[in-house]
Amino acid sequence: MAIRKIITPPNPLLRQPSLKVAEVDDTIRRLIRDMFDTMYDAPGIGLAAVQVGEPLSVIVMDTADKEKGEEPRPLALINPEVVWASEQKATWQEGCLSVPDIYDEVERPMEVRVRYLDENGEEQERHFSGLDAICVQHEIDHTKGILFIDYLSRLKRERYLKKVIKRAHGRVPNLSQT
Ligand code: NI
Repeated sequence: MAIRKIITPPNPLLRQPSLKVAEVDDTIRRLIRDMFDTMYDAPGIGLAAVQVGEPLSVIVMDTADKEKGEEPRPLALINPEVVWASEQKATWQEGCLSVPDIYDEVERPMEVRVRYLDENGEEQERHFSGLDAICVQHEIDHTKGILFIDYLSRLKRERYLKKVIKRAHGRVPNLSQT
């Protein structure tokens, strides 16, 4: 198990578009394993490689509700791309492991179709709806340097960013003491 550190603002990597993966090899598969370990440990339902400091177009997700006894359904997508989005929108309360403890409502297409490579490098297409559609769009945004708070008003976004940065700085002395 390898749990990686999740980066937070103002780390500039979060704003950098991720590079497409040229070849799905063992290095990528190892990265995906680490990303699942990190996501489940956090815990979260989605994670993009850039959030663990690797600006590569790789995302993982698992929206299964363990508290309701649902079986895990891990899904890794390499070079994901939205190829179709419904006109109908849905509003969900979103959060992000890189913007900890901040939640707010974001409106997105209710359903999307995504083309990606699987862990064997095979091209796949998949239809997403419900929470899966929201999650996959949120993670694909990370590969473009977009955070969910970018959909909010500037005032809210700046307030949230200040909160996150202030908290992260407050933690530094505590960590170095222990
Ligand atoms: Ni996120």
